[in-house]
Amino acid sequence: MLPPPPHDTDAPIRLTDNDAALAKLSAVRQNYLSDQFIKHFVSRASFQPSRPPLINVGTFVRTKAIDDLVNQWMDLSSKEGKKCQIISLGAGSDTRFWQLATGTRKDCLSKYIEVDFPEITMKKAMAIKKNKDLSVVLGAPADIQLGQGGTAISSPIYHLLPADLRSDPSIALGSLTAATENAARLLDPSLPTLLIFECVLAYMSPQESDTLLKWFHTYFSSREDGILGAIVYEMFGLGDSFGRVMLSNLKTRNVSLPGAVPYPTLESLPSRFLNLDYTSAHALTLKDIRRTFIDPIELDRISKLEMLDEIEELDLVLEHYAITWGLSTAHLGNRKAPWGEWGLQRREQHEEDE
Ligand SMILES: C[S@@+](CC[C@H](N)C(=O)[O-])C[C@H]1O[C@@H](n2cnc3c(N)ncnc32)[C@H](O)[C@@H]1O
Repeated sequence: MLPPPPHDTDAPIRLTDNDAALAKLSAVRQNYLSDQFIKHFVSRASFQPSRPPLINVGTFVRTKAIDDLVNQWMDLSSKEGKKCQIISLGAGSDTRFWQLATGTRKDCLSKYIEVDFPEITMKKAMAIKKNKDLSVVLGAPADIQLGQGGTAISSPIYHLLPADLRSDPSIALGSLTAATENAARLLDPSLPTLLIFECVLAYMSPQESDTLLKWFHTYFSSREDGILGAIVYEMFGLGDSFGRVMLSNLKTRNVSLPGAVPYPTLESLPSRFLNLDYTSAHALTLKDIRRTFIDPIELDRISKLEMLDEIEELDLVLEHYAITWGLSTAHLGNRKAPWGEWGLQRREQHEEDE
């Protein structure tokens, strides 16, 4: 692949989508995860090399944990007799929509919206248009519209939007919360709504991501029954030698992580939400999630897939990545009870932990 032109400073950030998609493809191919759709978003998928076992385990743990939080969100919404809305910001080539829309919880989805830079959404829109396995999940051809020069898709549930998440959200994402001449607003503030930021906020300044989280919070807390959740997955605690090596490797690719700077420790991560008036927030490292939150039967299964040389090395990597989840149920009072249960549930201790 040719290097991006030097003036295009966002190109290296967009290229991280390639890394994420290749990591997912590798974890699927090595049987850590099952995902029949990811191959359609990777060019020359069958020629792509697999990633090292350590990366595959990390991808597995991160995906399982986010899947669990998303599934819980959908189940809590159903318990309330409501459908839910999911917005994936910096979605890249992610396939979660296709998994959910073909899975047992599909009837719970009111809207699934993906946002990324226009260069990425155009590529994704083309892949969807080209591939029947992908497009058929969106609905009948007459219900699927391409827009904005091929960078946007709208369909009954799935919407793909081009936007720079660092821009003013009321302009860049205005169609989500305000009706336009041609279309109703996409988001219903009365439905439980989940934001997913999977490895994206680290590339933005803390002020830019605060503005974004605050904007969604304001929209959903404008109603008595507004319920908003958010999941953030990213690297943190980069002040140690591991972090310095990671930052210097990324620097050679012209990528920096301004969004990781305010989070030197695990304890600092929930402040991302609590400082913006979300009701509650929690964070766990991938190391902890692997040890105490993943089903032991699954852990046993994946331990047989590939030889992992060094558990210490795996732990060192996994303790620099975390999943943080925040909840805003500002006006629910006593009714917030079921939503307070939302979070990763610790399983029984596994032998390896003892
Ligand atoms: C590491 S990839 C992760 C992709 C996907 N969330 C996943 O986990 O598979 C980061 C994604 O965030 C997107 N991104 C980063 N900064 C962005 C911004 N300011 N506006 C829109 N998208 C952005 C990139 O284009 C890329 O697709």
